[in-house]
Amino acid sequence: MQMIPGINIKEVLVTGGCGFIGSHFLSKSCNAFPDINFTNIDNLSYAASINTEKYLTQFKNYNFQKIDISDLVQIKEIFEQRKFDLVVHFAAESHVDNSINSPIEFINTNIVGTYNILQCISESVREGKDTLFHHISTDEVYGSLDLNEKSFSELSNFSPSSPYSASKASSDLIVEAWGKTFDIKYLITNCSNNFGPRQHTEKLIPKTVNNILNNKYIPVFGNGTNIRDWLYVEDHIDAILSLYKKNLFINERFNIGGGFEISNIEIINEIISILQEYYGQNDAEKLIKFVEDRKGHDFRYSIDNSKIRMATSWSPSKNFKEQLKNTINWYMLNENWWDQ
Ligand SMILES: NC(=O)c1ccc[n+]([C@@H]2O[C@H](COP(=O)([O-])OP(=O)(O)OC[C@H]3O[C@@H](n4cnc5c(N)ncnc54)[C@H](O)[C@@H]3O)[C@@H](O)[C@H]2O)c1
Repeated sequence: MQMIPGINIKEVLVTGGCGFIGSHFLSKSCNAFPDINFTNIDNLSYAASINTEKYLTQFKNYNFQKIDISDLVQIKEIFEQRKFDLVVHFAAESHVDNSINSPIEFINTNIVGTYNILQCISESVREGKDTLFHHISTDEVYGSLDLNEKSFSELSNFSPSSPYSASKASSDLIVEAWGKTFDIKYLITNCSNNFGPRQHTEKLIPKTVNNILNNKYIPVFGNGTNIRDWLYVEDHIDAILSLYKKNLFINERFNIGGGFEISNIEIINEIISILQEYYGQNDAEKLIKFVEDRKGHDFRYSIDNSKIRMATSWSPSKNFKEQLKNTINWYMLNENWWDQ
Protein backbone atom coordinates (compact mmCIF):
# COMPACT_ATOMS: atom_id res chain seq x y z
CA MET A 1 0.00 0.00 0.00
CA GLN A 2 1.33 3.43 -0.93
CA MET A 3 1.33 6.13 1.74
CA ILE A 4 0.70 8.85 -0.85
CA PRO A 5 -0.57 7.53 -4.19
CA GLY A 6 1.56 8.54 -7.16
CA ILE A 7 4.57 9.44 -4.99
CA ASN A 8 7.31 6.98 -4.10
CA ILE A 9 7.73 7.71 -0.39
CA LYS A 10 10.85 5.99 0.98
CA GLU A 11 12.10 8.29 3.75
CA VAL A 12 9.87 10.12 6.23
CA LEU A 13 11.08 12.57 8.87
CA VAL A 14 8.84 12.97 11.92
CA THR A 15 9.58 15.75 14.39
CA GLY A 16 8.43 15.47 18.00
CA GLY A 17 7.69 11.74 17.76
CA CYS A 18 8.49 11.11 21.45
CA GLY A 19 5.49 13.25 22.36
CA PHE A 20 1.82 12.38 22.39
CA ILE A 21 0.39 12.73 18.87
CA GLY A 22 3.67 12.15 17.00
CA SER A 23 4.12 8.78 18.73
CA HIS A 24 0.66 7.66 17.59
CA PHE A 25 1.44 8.76 14.05
CA LEU A 26 4.69 6.78 14.15
CA SER A 27 3.26 3.57 15.59
CA LYS A 28 0.39 3.49 13.10
CA SER A 29 2.55 4.45 10.09
CA CYS A 30 5.53 2.18 10.89
CA ASN A 31 3.06 -0.70 11.03
CA ALA A 32 1.09 0.23 7.94
CA PHE A 33 4.10 1.05 5.73
CA PRO A 34 6.89 -1.45 6.50
CA ASP A 35 8.88 -0.46 3.38
CA ILE A 36 9.24 3.16 4.45
CA ASN A 37 11.98 4.36 6.84
CA PHE A 38 10.73 6.65 9.59
CA THR A 39 13.25 8.92 11.31
CA ASN A 40 12.06 10.53 14.53
CA ILE A 41 13.84 13.65 15.78
CA ASP A 42 13.03 15.01 19.23
CA ASN A 43 15.03 16.96 21.80
CA LEU A 44 13.53 14.79 24.58
CA SER A 45 12.14 17.82 26.37
CA TYR A 46 10.19 17.38 29.62
CA ALA A 47 7.11 16.62 27.44
CA ALA A 48 8.72 13.59 25.81
CA SER A 49 8.83 10.21 27.46
CA ILE A 50 11.75 7.79 27.22
CA ASN A 51 9.14 5.03 27.55
CA THR A 52 7.45 6.33 24.41
CA GLU A 53 10.77 6.24 22.56
CA LYS A 54 11.46 2.69 23.83
CA TYR A 55 7.98 1.61 22.77
CA LEU A 56 8.67 2.82 19.22
CA THR A 57 11.91 0.81 18.90
CA GLN A 58 9.77 -2.32 18.34
CA PHE A 59 9.39 -1.13 14.73
CA LYS A 60 12.23 -2.23 12.44
CA ASN A 61 11.66 0.69 10.07
CA TYR A 62 12.02 3.25 12.90
CA ASN A 63 15.10 5.19 14.01
CA PHE A 64 15.62 8.02 16.46
CA GLN A 65 18.01 10.96 16.77
CA LYS A 66 18.06 13.46 19.61
CA ILE A 67 17.91 16.80 17.83
CA ASP A 68 16.72 20.24 18.81
CA ILE A 69 14.80 21.81 15.92
CA SER A 70 15.60 25.31 17.15
CA ASP A 71 19.25 24.63 16.25
CA LEU A 72 19.72 25.09 12.48
CA VAL A 73 23.09 23.32 12.51
CA GLN A 74 21.56 20.13 13.97
CA ILE A 75 18.65 20.23 11.53
CA LYS A 76 20.94 20.75 8.55
CA GLU A 77 22.97 17.68 9.56
CA ILE A 78 19.95 15.39 9.51
CA PHE A 79 18.92 16.72 6.09
CA GLU A 80 22.47 16.06 4.86
CA GLN A 81 22.36 12.45 6.13
CA ARG A 82 19.08 11.52 4.43
CA LYS A 83 16.89 12.79 1.61
CA PHE A 84 13.36 13.00 2.96
CA ASP A 85 10.30 12.58 0.76
CA LEU A 86 7.93 13.70 3.49
CA VAL A 87 8.37 15.71 6.71
CA VAL A 88 5.61 15.50 9.32
CA HIS A 89 6.13 18.29 11.84
CA PHE A 90 4.67 17.63 15.31
CA ALA A 91 7.49 19.05 17.46
CA ALA A 92 6.33 22.00 19.48
CA GLU A 93 6.09 23.46 22.91
CA SER A 94 2.45 22.61 23.40
CA HIS A 95 1.21 23.74 26.82
CA VAL A 96 -0.62 27.07 27.02
CA ASP A 97 0.12 27.63 30.73
CA ASN A 98 3.86 27.23 30.14
CA SER A 99 3.64 29.72 27.27
CA ILE A 100 2.22 32.31 29.67
CA ASN A 101 4.99 31.72 32.22
CA SER A 102 7.86 31.49 29.74
CA PRO A 103 7.03 32.41 26.12
CA ILE A 104 10.59 32.34 24.77
CA GLU A 105 10.75 28.53 24.35
CA PHE A 106 7.58 28.81 22.25
CA ILE A 107 9.17 31.39 19.99
CA ASN A 108 12.34 29.30 19.64
CA THR A 109 10.74 25.91 19.01
CA ASN A 110 7.43 26.73 17.36
CA ILE A 111 8.53 29.65 15.18
CA VAL A 112 12.32 29.39 14.72
CA GLY A 113 12.18 25.56 14.71
CA THR A 114 9.58 25.55 11.93
CA TYR A 115 11.59 28.13 9.98
CA ASN A 116 14.75 25.97 10.31
CA ILE A 117 13.00 22.93 8.86
CA LEU A 118 11.50 24.96 6.03
CA GLN A 119 14.94 26.40 5.20
CA CYS A 120 16.31 22.86 4.82
CA ILE A 121 13.35 21.81 2.68
CA SER A 122 13.68 24.84 0.43
CA GLU A 123 17.35 23.90 -0.03
CA SER A 124 16.23 20.38 -1.09
CA VAL A 125 13.67 21.89 -3.48
CA ARG A 126 16.41 24.09 -5.01
CA GLU A 127 18.45 20.93 -5.57
CA GLY A 128 15.50 19.38 -7.43
CA LYS A 129 14.23 17.14 -4.60
CA ASP A 130 10.50 17.37 -3.88
CA THR A 131 10.05 17.12 -0.12
CA LEU A 132 6.45 17.38 1.06
CA PHE A 133 5.87 19.24 4.32
CA HIS A 134 2.99 18.55 6.68
CA HIS A 135 2.60 21.12 9.43
CA ILE A 136 0.56 19.99 12.44
CA SER A 137 -1.24 22.97 13.92
CA THR A 138 -4.08 23.82 16.24
CA ASP A 139 -7.61 25.22 16.24
CA GLU A 140 -6.35 27.73 18.83
CA VAL A 141 -4.96 29.91 16.01
CA TYR A 142 -8.56 31.02 15.35
CA GLY A 143 -9.09 32.38 18.88
CA SER A 144 -12.27 32.05 20.88
CA LEU A 145 -15.99 31.59 20.10
CA ASP A 146 -19.14 32.44 22.03
CA LEU A 147 -21.82 29.80 22.50
CA ASN A 148 -23.89 30.98 19.54
CA GLU A 149 -21.03 31.62 17.11
CA LYS A 150 -20.37 29.44 14.05
CA SER A 151 -17.63 26.78 14.27
CA PHE A 152 -14.15 27.58 12.90
CA SER A 153 -13.78 26.88 9.21
CA GLU A 154 -10.54 26.98 7.22
CA LEU A 155 -11.55 30.52 6.20
CA SER A 156 -11.87 31.84 9.77
CA ASN A 157 -9.50 34.68 10.62
CA PHE A 158 -6.55 34.09 12.89
CA SER A 159 -7.03 35.66 16.31
CA PRO A 160 -4.71 33.91 18.76
CA SER A 161 -5.01 34.69 22.48
CA SER A 162 -2.01 33.01 24.13
CA PRO A 163 1.72 33.03 23.39
CA TYR A 164 1.28 29.34 22.44
CA SER A 165 -1.48 29.99 19.88
CA ALA A 166 0.33 33.10 18.58
CA SER A 167 3.48 31.01 18.02
CA LYS A 168 1.46 28.35 16.17
CA ALA A 169 -0.37 30.98 14.07
CA SER A 170 3.01 32.53 13.20
CA SER A 171 4.36 29.16 12.11
CA ASP A 172 1.24 28.50 9.99
CA LEU A 173 1.82 31.81 8.18
CA ILE A 174 5.52 31.07 7.72
CA VAL A 175 4.62 27.72 6.13
CA GLU A 176 2.17 29.41 3.72
CA ALA A 177 4.71 32.07 2.77
CA TRP A 178 7.54 29.53 2.26
CA GLY A 179 5.14 27.52 0.10
CA LYS A 180 4.46 30.50 -2.16
CA THR A 181 8.00 31.88 -2.23
CA PHE A 182 10.13 28.73 -2.23
CA ASP A 183 7.77 26.30 -4.01
CA ILE A 184 7.45 23.96 -1.05
CA LYS A 185 4.45 21.63 -1.32
CA TYR A 186 2.72 21.73 2.04
CA LEU A 187 -0.33 20.63 3.95
CA ILE A 188 -1.46 22.35 7.16
CA THR A 189 -3.90 20.64 9.49
CA ASN A 190 -5.47 22.46 12.45
CA CYS A 191 -6.80 19.97 14.95
CA SER A 192 -8.85 20.34 18.09
CA ASN A 193 -8.03 18.99 21.59
CA ASN A 194 -6.62 15.47 21.30
CA PHE A 195 -6.97 12.85 23.97
CA GLY A 196 -5.75 9.28 24.36
CA PRO A 197 -2.85 7.24 25.74
CA ARG A 198 0.66 8.71 26.14
CA GLN A 199 -0.39 12.35 26.62
CA HIS A 200 1.71 14.25 29.17
CA THR A 201 0.17 14.51 32.62
CA GLU A 202 0.15 18.32 32.46
CA LYS A 203 -2.90 18.16 30.14
CA LEU A 204 -6.52 18.19 31.40
CA ILE A 205 -7.58 14.52 31.06
CA PRO A 206 -4.38 12.80 32.28
CA LYS A 207 -3.92 15.41 34.99
CA THR A 208 -7.44 14.82 36.31
CA VAL A 209 -6.93 11.03 36.33
CA ASN A 210 -3.51 11.28 38.01
CA ASN A 211 -4.63 13.76 40.62
CA ILE A 212 -7.59 11.59 41.55
CA LEU A 213 -5.34 8.50 41.84
CA ASN A 214 -2.95 10.48 44.05
CA ASN A 215 -5.71 12.16 46.08
CA LYS A 216 -4.63 15.63 44.93
CA TYR A 217 -6.77 18.66 44.08
CA ILE A 218 -8.13 18.88 40.53
CA PRO A 219 -7.61 22.55 39.59
CA VAL A 220 -10.39 23.96 37.38
CA PHE A 221 -9.90 27.36 35.74
CA GLY A 222 -12.63 29.96 36.41
CA ASN A 223 -16.04 28.32 36.66
CA GLY A 224 -15.15 25.37 34.41
CA THR A 225 -17.63 26.25 31.66
CA ASN A 226 -15.01 26.72 28.90
CA ILE A 227 -15.79 24.40 26.00
CA ARG A 228 -13.39 22.32 23.92
CA ASP A 229 -13.94 20.14 20.84
CA TRP A 230 -12.40 16.71 21.62
CA LEU A 231 -10.72 14.44 19.10
CA TYR A 232 -9.50 10.91 19.87
CA VAL A 233 -5.84 10.73 18.89
CA GLU A 234 -6.34 7.63 16.71
CA ASP A 235 -9.13 9.41 14.82
CA HIS A 236 -6.67 12.26 14.28
CA ILE A 237 -4.05 9.91 12.80
CA ASP A 238 -6.70 8.30 10.57
CA ALA A 239 -7.66 11.77 9.35
CA ILE A 240 -4.04 12.58 8.49
CA LEU A 241 -3.55 9.30 6.61
CA SER A 242 -6.81 9.82 4.73
CA LEU A 243 -5.51 13.19 3.49
CA TYR A 244 -2.29 11.48 2.33
CA LYS A 245 -4.33 8.80 0.57
CA LYS A 246 -5.92 11.54 -1.53
CA ASN A 247 -2.54 13.23 -2.11
CA LEU A 248 -3.79 16.54 -0.78
CA PHE A 249 -0.39 18.25 -0.59
CA ILE A 250 -1.66 21.11 -2.66
CA ASN A 251 -0.80 23.94 -0.31
CA GLU A 252 -4.05 23.46 1.52
CA ARG A 253 -5.35 23.76 5.07
CA PHE A 254 -7.79 21.30 6.67
CA ASN A 255 -9.45 21.52 10.08
CA ILE A 256 -9.66 18.24 11.98
CA GLY A 257 -12.15 18.12 14.86
CA GLY A 258 -13.87 15.30 16.70
CA GLY A 259 -17.26 17.04 16.63
CA PHE A 260 -17.69 16.46 20.35
CA GLU A 261 -17.98 19.67 22.38
CA ILE A 262 -18.00 19.51 26.15
CA SER A 263 -17.09 21.90 28.97
CA ASN A 264 -14.06 21.33 31.18
CA ILE A 265 -16.15 20.71 34.27
CA GLU A 266 -18.37 18.22 32.40
CA ILE A 267 -15.36 16.25 31.21
CA ILE A 268 -13.91 16.22 34.74
CA ASN A 269 -17.24 14.91 36.06
CA GLU A 270 -17.28 12.28 33.31
CA ILE A 271 -13.81 11.09 34.38
CA ILE A 272 -14.91 11.02 38.02
CA SER A 273 -17.95 8.90 37.14
CA ILE A 274 -15.89 6.43 35.02
CA LEU A 275 -13.33 6.06 37.83
CA GLN A 276 -16.17 5.47 40.26
CA GLU A 277 -18.10 3.01 38.09
CA TYR A 278 -15.17 0.88 36.87
CA TYR A 279 -12.40 1.37 39.41
CA GLY A 280 -14.26 1.96 42.69
CA GLN A 281 -12.71 5.43 43.22
CA ASN A 282 -15.27 7.18 45.43
CA ASP A 283 -15.71 10.79 46.52
CA ALA A 284 -13.38 12.28 43.89
CA GLU A 285 -15.76 15.27 43.48
CA LYS A 286 -14.38 16.66 46.70
CA LEU A 287 -11.01 17.12 44.97
CA ILE A 288 -12.40 19.68 42.49
CA LYS A 289 -11.00 23.12 43.24
CA PHE A 290 -11.98 26.18 41.20
CA VAL A 291 -8.90 28.37 40.70
CA GLU A 292 -8.24 31.82 39.20
CA ASP A 293 -8.98 31.77 35.48
CA ARG A 294 -6.13 31.41 32.99
CA LYS A 295 -5.06 34.77 31.50
CA GLY A 296 -6.49 35.21 27.98
CA HIS A 297 -8.50 31.99 28.42
CA ASP A 298 -10.44 31.19 25.24
CA PHE A 299 -14.07 30.38 26.01
CA ARG A 300 -14.97 27.93 23.27
CA TYR A 301 -13.32 26.05 20.40
CA SER A 302 -15.54 24.41 17.83
CA ILE A 303 -14.44 22.89 14.54
CA ASP A 304 -16.31 22.71 11.27
CA ASN A 305 -14.74 19.55 9.81
CA SER A 306 -16.87 19.43 6.64
CA LYS A 307 -13.91 20.20 4.33
CA ILE A 308 -11.93 17.09 5.29
CA ARG A 309 -15.08 14.95 5.42
CA MET A 310 -15.96 15.99 1.87
CA ALA A 311 -12.41 15.59 0.54
CA THR A 312 -11.80 12.15 2.07
CA SER A 313 -13.76 9.22 3.44
CA TRP A 314 -12.76 10.18 7.01
CA SER A 315 -15.13 11.07 9.80
CA PRO A 316 -14.57 10.96 13.57
CA SER A 317 -15.64 7.72 15.21
CA LYS A 318 -18.03 9.39 17.68
CA ASN A 319 -17.81 7.11 20.70
CA PHE A 320 -16.37 9.61 23.14
CA LYS A 321 -17.28 7.77 26.32
CA GLU A 322 -15.69 4.49 25.16
CA GLN A 323 -12.52 6.33 24.05
CA LEU A 324 -12.37 8.19 27.36
CA LYS A 325 -12.70 4.87 29.19
CA ASN A 326 -9.82 3.39 27.11
CA THR A 327 -7.72 6.46 27.83
CA ILE A 328 -8.34 6.28 31.58
CA ASN A 329 -7.59 2.56 31.52
CA TRP A 330 -4.22 3.26 29.87
CA TYR A 331 -3.33 5.79 32.60
CA MET A 332 -4.36 3.33 35.29
CA LEU A 333 -2.00 0.72 33.80
CA ASN A 334 0.86 3.14 33.05
CA GLU A 335 1.00 5.45 36.04
CA ASN A 336 4.81 5.51 35.92
CA TRP A 337 5.15 6.24 32.19
CA TRP A 338 6.56 9.69 32.96
CA ASP A 339 8.98 8.63 35.74
CA GLN A 340 12.38 8.82 34.06
N1 LIG B 1 -2.38 17.75 22.00
C1 LIG B 1 -3.33 18.47 21.45
O1 LIG B 1 -4.48 18.45 21.89
C2 LIG B 1 -3.04 19.33 20.24
C3 LIG B 1 -4.10 20.04 19.67
C4 LIG B 1 -3.85 20.83 18.54
C5 LIG B 1 -2.58 20.86 17.98
N2 LIG B 1 -1.56 20.17 18.58
C6 LIG B 1 -0.24 20.24 17.94
O2 LIG B 1 0.18 18.91 17.68
C7 LIG B 1 1.60 18.81 17.80
C8 LIG B 1 1.93 17.67 18.75
O3 LIG B 1 1.30 17.93 20.01
P1 LIG B 1 1.46 16.93 21.23
O4 LIG B 1 0.26 17.05 22.05
O5 LIG B 1 1.90 15.60 20.74
O6 LIG B 1 2.66 17.64 22.01
P2 LIG B 1 3.66 17.02 23.06
O7 LIG B 1 4.06 18.16 23.93
O8 LIG B 1 3.14 15.79 23.67
O9 LIG B 1 4.90 16.58 22.15
C9 LIG B 1 5.77 17.49 21.53
C10 LIG B 1 7.10 16.78 21.28
O10 LIG B 1 7.97 17.75 20.66
C11 LIG B 1 9.25 17.66 21.27
N3 LIG B 1 9.93 18.95 21.19
C12 LIG B 1 9.62 20.09 21.84
N4 LIG B 1 10.51 21.06 21.54
C13 LIG B 1 11.40 20.51 20.68
C14 LIG B 1 12.55 20.98 20.01
N5 LIG B 1 12.99 22.24 20.19
N6 LIG B 1 13.22 20.14 19.20
C15 LIG B 1 12.80 18.86 19.01
N7 LIG B 1 11.72 18.35 19.63
C16 LIG B 1 11.02 19.16 20.44
C17 LIG B 1 8.95 17.27 22.72
O11 LIG B 1 10.09 16.69 23.34
C18 LIG B 1 7.80 16.31 22.56
O12 LIG B 1 8.24 14.99 22.41
C19 LIG B 1 2.08 20.18 18.27
O13 LIG B 1 2.56 20.87 17.17
C20 LIG B 1 0.84 20.85 18.82
O14 LIG B 1 0.90 22.24 18.67
C21 LIG B 1 -1.76 19.41 19.70
